[in-house]
Amino acid sequence: MSDDLTSLQAEYLGAIDAASDPRALDAVRVAALGKSGAVTALLKALGGVPADQRRERGAAVNAVKAALEAALDIRRVALDAVALDARLAAERVDVTLPARPFPPAGPDQGAIHPITRTIEELTALFGAMGFAVAEGPDIEADWYNFSALNIPGHHPARQDQDTFYLPPAHGDGFQTVLRTQTSPLQVRTMLAGNPPIRIIAPGRTWRADHDATHSPMFHQVEGLVIGRDITLGHLKGCLIDALRGFFGIGDLPVRFRSSYFPFTEPSMEVDIGWNRKTGELGGGGDWLEILGSGMVHPKVLANCGLDPREWQGFAFGMGIERITMLKHGLPDLRPFYESDVRWLRATSAPVLSPASLSEGV
Ligand code: DAH
Repeated sequence: MSDDLTSLQAEYLGAIDAASDPRALDAVRVAALGKSGAVTALLKALGGVPADQRRERGAAVNAVKAALEAALDIRRVALDAVALDARLAAERVDVTLPARPFPPAGPDQGAIHPITRTIEELTALFGAMGFAVAEGPDIEADWYNFSALNIPGHHPARQDQDTFYLPPAHGDGFQTVLRTQTSPLQVRTMLAGNPPIRIIAPGRTWRADHDATHSPMFHQVEGLVIGRDITLGHLKGCLIDALRGFFGIGDLPVRFRSSYFPFTEPSMEVDIGWNRKTGELGGGGDWLEILGSGMVHPKVLANCGLDPREWQGFAFGMGIERITMLKHGLPDLRPFYESDVRWLRATSAPVLSPASLSEGV
């Protein structure tokens, strides 16, 4: 290798070694191999080298280029490791520090979405009454969503619920739907577990419907209690306590009105007292329908492998958006899912304020 190349290579290898951070290293790379770098200039100048020397000169310049590239790569890996070590040391988290009780309010502060908050509150509330939380899939077999719940193929409830049907999977003939209700969790829980049972099942549900009070995706909470001696009295006591606890109104009027659901017998709709004019819950003398409930139909028990002569119980289901809107005085359901940060900030709960009964959920 000619002297000029040897000293050029030595000069840049020295500079690469001396570079103490990624930026300095990049400056060396640009000076040597960049568009107007020293090695690039030599490559460009090859055209002017006499033809008989060009081949040898070209190989020598390229060897310098390869040597510098290799040295740059090695140095970059080393500097990156040093930088990472420094960052890890600087950003080290002291996990022994006590938690901050409430983060200061600020534009970057996260918060709990009101739907999540309601689910947390219901979990705390029913948890205190001995209920566990059950979960199931959003894509549900037709049998769990309808048939096992005593809603046969021709039943009008299938149309009422504006079902999203999915194409049959794997050609196996099983119809699947986006679950239109959380009631299939009744079926799944009874089939899976040994009674007695006491669960709530909060979760997403789906219907082809969209306006100020309906969204194609919404949430329900299902409740199921099964035992040998569970009666309508238990249903009433449980729901009265739960509604009064959730809305934080100790004397909230609650009314049970007979109704019809395919999966319960007898069935009842539950109303709470409110003032139609002011929208205020509690007094006022008007009634607002809030949920469906009833004693689990003997056919449903049998479909789920329980002997109706031995087991009985009650079930209920309610819309989570609806009770959240009522509790917080929100007139429109659509903002729940529009991700407008201003709305979310105004309606969400602080992250570090767990829902608990002592707070007066
Ligand atoms: N699944 C019903 C609906 O979506 C609500 C419901 C009513 C659930 C009565 C129940 C019940 O468990 O007993 O409209």
